[in-house]
This record gives sequence, C-alpha cells and structure tokens, in this order.
Amino acid sequence: MAHINQEYLKLPGSYLFSTVGRKQREYQAAHPEAKVIRLSIGDVTLPLAPVILDAMHKAVDEMGQAESFKGYAPDLGYEFLRDVIAKKDYQERGCDISADEIFISDGAKSDSANIQEIFGKDNKIAVCDPVYPVYVDSNVMAGRTGVYDVNTMTWSDVIYMPCTAENGFAPQLPKETPDIIYLCFPNNPTGATVTRSQLQEWVDYANKVGAVIIYDAAYEAYISEEEVPHSIYQCEGARTCAIELRSFSKNAGFTGVRLGFTVIPKDLVVDNTKLHSLWARRHGTKYNGAPYIIQRAGEAVYSPEGQVQLKEQVAYYMRNAAYIYEGLKSAGFKVSGGVNAPYIWIETPGNMGSWEFFDLLLDKAQVVCTPGAGFGPSGEGYFRMTAFGSYENTVEAVERIKKLNF
Ligand SMILES: Cc1ncc(COP(=O)(O)O)c(C=O)c1O
Repeated sequence: MAHINQEYLKLPGSYLFSTVGRKQREYQAAHPEAKVIRLSIGDVTLPLAPVILDAMHKAVDEMGQAESFKGYAPDLGYEFLRDVIAKKDYQERGCDISADEIFISDGAKSDSANIQEIFGKDNKIAVCDPVYPVYVDSNVMAGRTGVYDVNTMTWSDVIYMPCTAENGFAPQLPKETPDIIYLCFPNNPTGATVTRSQLQEWVDYANKVGAVIIYDAAYEAYISEEEVPHSIYQCEGARTCAIELRSFSKNAGFTGVRLGFTVIPKDLVVDNTKLHSLWARRHGTKYNGAPYIIQRAGEAVYSPEGQVQLKEQVAYYMRNAAYIYEGLKSAGFKVSGGVNAPYIWIETPGNMGSWEFFDLLLDKAQVVCTPGAGFGPSGEGYFRMTAFGSYENTVEAVERIKKLNF
C-alpha cells in the first residue's frame, strides 16, 4: 500500500501567494467593475529586452537545422554561459569563482528549495524572520523543522533571526548555533541589505562554527550603493562556507522564461565531502538542464547591448520603487527598502495586523499588497509592495493609498 510523505501534511495553509491571489480573485468576482492594482507578487511586467529576443530567435533557428540542433544540455549547463557568468558576475568583481563551479538551472526557486537535499536530516537551519517562504517550506517537506506552533507561527527546530526596525532589518548572529544559514540580500521581503563588512562577519562566523551559508542573491541587479556586496564571494573565506544562488528572473525579466544558477566552490567541504560533487551528482540524476534556447538568451544578458537594455529595465522598476517609497513616506507611513531592492517594506498604520490591512487596502483602494505576516512572525504589522508594476499603476496605487488618509 502506498503512503504519502507525512511531512507535507505539516505545511500550514497554502503558499502565501496562493492565498493573496485567491483573495484578489474573490474580490474581483464580487466587484467586476473595480480596477484592482496588483503590487503584491514579485513578478516582472516589462517585456523581454530586444537583445534577449534576438538571441532566442537565433537559437530557435539553430534548433531547426541538423548541423546546429541541440539535444540534452550538459549536466552543469553550456560552457558559453558558465564562462561568461564566471567572468562577468565573479572574476570582474574580484571573486575567485571558476566556470566549473557554476551549475545552470531553471531558477532560484527550485535551487533554493532543492539544495537542502544534500544535507543530513538532522541539520538545524537558521532563517531570517521575515523570510522568503521557500527556504522553510522545503525543509518542512524534508522533515527537518520539528513541530509547528500556530500561535507563534514558528517551527520548533528552526532558528529564527528577527529582522526588525531596531536592527535595520539585518539579522544578528544567532545565540544557538545553526548548521545551515539562509541569507538573502538584497532581501525579499524587506528590501534591506548588509554591507560587505557585515556579510564578512557572517562568513567568519560560518567558518568558525562549521555552518554552511546559502546566500540568495536573486536581487543583486538592484544594488545601487557602493558598500553593498554583489556576491558573498567578495568576502574573504566564503569559498569554504558559502553556496550562492542567482536568478535571471529579476535582472532580465525571465520569470516566465526560467533560468538561474547555483555556485558551489570546490573548497566547500562538509563531512570530508565536497558539496560540489554531491550537487553535481544530484543534478546528474534529477535534472536534464535548462533549454539551449534559454541558455543562449542568458548569454545575451551579459552582452554589451544586453547590459545597457537591462540596466534600463532595472532603472524603470527602481523609479517605481522611489515613487512608492517617497509617496508613502510623505503620507506618514514608516517605509524602508526600495533603494537596493525592488521591494518596499512598510509598517501598517495604527498597529493594524498585516492581513487586516491587506483586506482594507483591497476593499478601500483596490490595491493588492503582500501581508508581512505571510513571511514570518516578525513580518506581522508590515506589508510589502513591489516595484514590478507599470509606472502608471504604481502612481495610481500610491495616490489611492494617500487618499485614504491613514
Ligand atoms: C529571494 C528569492 N529567491 C528566489 C526567487 C525565485 O527566483 P526564480 O524566478 O529564479 O525561481 C525569488 C522570487 O521571487 C525570490 O524572491
């Protein structure tokens, strides 16, 4: 008789964005005339840049010719893409990362969810609170998180590192020693960042206690300030303690195209075993590679025209971020983020609960935000807005919120 993985039954409720989407659909169905503006999920809205389209068209044509047709991609990804990533994202920033330490994938969500597979079940994870839900949920599915407490919205075997206004939304080193530390900067959902010297402290700590940092840099392209590191490998010693995750979703609009990569330095050794070898083994068994057409599109991201066109897209979104930040600040809200990230993290007015404020905003302004509580207990009393909408919708949403006179 078949049995299910009982750990799945421990997952509380539905995935955050499913609930947000359902509430929006229900509202729209009840108010068909309402123009609902969705600044909730972090999905891009600008079309693919011309340089990406050209690369994809060309690759499609290659697939139609016997001489240039491609079947299965190499396990770790095509060399043309791994080489350009190693050079542009790492070596040109002074990071000692080579092409054969890069694993191409279909995006950072799958990598961030799957990477825990190569660690023992008894590893204790530490996460920022609030946090991108995938890190915790994937560990729940693996049976690593203990018992869920509905009142505190926490798992008994997870170390939570509160990121609050008091600490500038940057986690402090935990009191209890973790085995795996998830860090994400620029952060989703708070939009906060750490400086290179702050990140260096984490690297030193991880090396000292023998922990592995899983560093999610999906929003690296949005960094505007000099002291904010673009990669954890800009810190000394990161090669022996850190895995880095990257995505093409937010820097190049690939949310529907799907491409990302994971970096595992060959110096990263746990239990006398190179994590690089384990992940290569896992990749070889469970993954048949991102499509050739998409990997060619990824290569185009690094071309000189690609860099120009994509900088314009990032600037477009960051203009929205500035509009939300300034608009809501001037309306009396306490706002943060939005400078090195496309997310603005805002305190709910009058100590309102996150979901209560979400419902009110939908009802009174027809604006969909993301309730902070959905990202963890320390997110209660906050809401997140994204800069990924159109400029016109962003302006209208901010003006509607201002009119509510909180
Ligand atoms: C922190 C973080 N990591 C990963 C992802 C997923 O990226 P991808 O589209 O490459 O799967 C997201 C998407 O919103 C994210 O916010």
